[in-house]
Amino acid sequence: MAISAIKGMNDILPGDVETWQFLEQKVREVFGAYGFNEIRTPIVEKTELFCRSIGEATDIVEKEMYTFADKSEKNSLTMRPEGTAPVMRSFIQNRLHTLDPVNKLYYMGPMFRYERPQKGRYRQFHQIGAEVLGVENPMIDAQLLAMLHHYFCEIGIDSVQLQVNSLGCPECRPAYRQTLISYLESRIDTLCGDCQRRYQTNPLRVLDCKVPGCKEATREAPSVLDHLCGGCEEHFAAVKKHLSGLEIPFVINARMVRGLDYYVRTTFELVTDQLGSQNAVAAGGRYDGLVESLDGPALPGIGFAIGVERLVLMKGEAKVPAKRPDIFFATMGDEATEKAFVLMSQLQRAGISAEMDYQGKSLKSQMRRANKLAARYSLVLGEQELESGEVELKDMDQSSQQKVALVGLVSLMGQLCSSA
Ligand code: HAM
Repeated sequence: MAISAIKGMNDILPGDVETWQFLEQKVREVFGAYGFNEIRTPIVEKTELFCRSIGEATDIVEKEMYTFADKSEKNSLTMRPEGTAPVMRSFIQNRLHTLDPVNKLYYMGPMFRYERPQKGRYRQFHQIGAEVLGVENPMIDAQLLAMLHHYFCEIGIDSVQLQVNSLGCPECRPAYRQTLISYLESRIDTLCGDCQRRYQTNPLRVLDCKVPGCKEATREAPSVLDHLCGGCEEHFAAVKKHLSGLEIPFVINARMVRGLDYYVRTTFELVTDQLGSQNAVAAGGRYDGLVESLDGPALPGIGFAIGVERLVLMKGEAKVPAKRPDIFFATMGDEATEKAFVLMSQLQRAGISAEMDYQGKSLKSQMRRANKLAARYSLVLGEQELESGEVELKDMDQSSQQKVALVGLVSLMGQLCSSA
């Protein structure tokens, strides 16, 4: 039996890959304008990195990581479930803060989580992420969200809503957590089994539970925004003010719960109603304290990650067209085929995409292929054309033709393609 791909891990085929390239190109353009530089880290890291950063009591660390011992059996390794922790590890290891007090980094690549696959949720998925290290000023929170907003405008997706929240800090969150635990305790019998088990270790997750009983039980739950300390309240107020100043639309969602433990203060999600239950297209927040907890310098940080598969699903029908060849050579006879082969190579070297038939097909079938590939121009090369040194160059869009010399074809095609 033929071997198939692993469940939840998908091929990205020609025809779809153009959309991915478009999304990646726009990242380079937009993020570049905001001063971000690309960073690439390994797919596999020491397991401890994720346990210490994402948190032992999270779904990711508890049940979703692809973890294995390497051949020495001494090292526990994990395929990265997200990009922030590896970037922090690299930032600390390479002492990037000594090169510049402010680091703006972005990355694109595959992440791995052993989740139940469904539309918009996969076991290998891709993130476009951005992280800013070294700035506490709430202006950077707003700037990062402005960049996210700008990116979505550039790629033509506007059916998303930006939701923001503040999760407080180590000063104010413990008291809120305790208040929430006491509240949940008073309704323990109405919570689902999962929540009864986790409300002590991860009470915020209960706010996010989809089970109707839990939803009902938490309707009146105390809000984190009513329990912020002075510093967090001020920070959140400034983020909102700057967002309004930049005319970035947003709503407050005080029940937003993030599945990773490193967040403090500002958290946010870009949500859509187009993807069923997997409604977050991008998410992130501030993680002051994370770098220090990984034995790096005490520097604040904030970032986000976009789920690329979800972007692609949302772009849907509005696919970026596949690259069409600039010219297709249809040939008759061995000599003409060889001449076309050389001409094709010269054109390709000049950056003009050219195609031909390699299988000795009939002229009719070659022209069918030229049409299928949507070639911009085609020409038929046979004995007669070789002798006269001239060919009919057919403009496939206009259905018009012109006689052109074989000598100078490369420069002529260069002119035609650059003016198209
Ligand atoms: P996250 O919320 O776990 O955050 O993931 C960010 C985004 O990745 C999600 O909003 C979603 O679009 C996409 N995503 C997550 N899991 C899957 C999956 N199984 N299949 C498809 N898409 C998925 C983080 O990963 C943080 N590192 C974000 C961040 C960066 N925070 C600060 N900096």
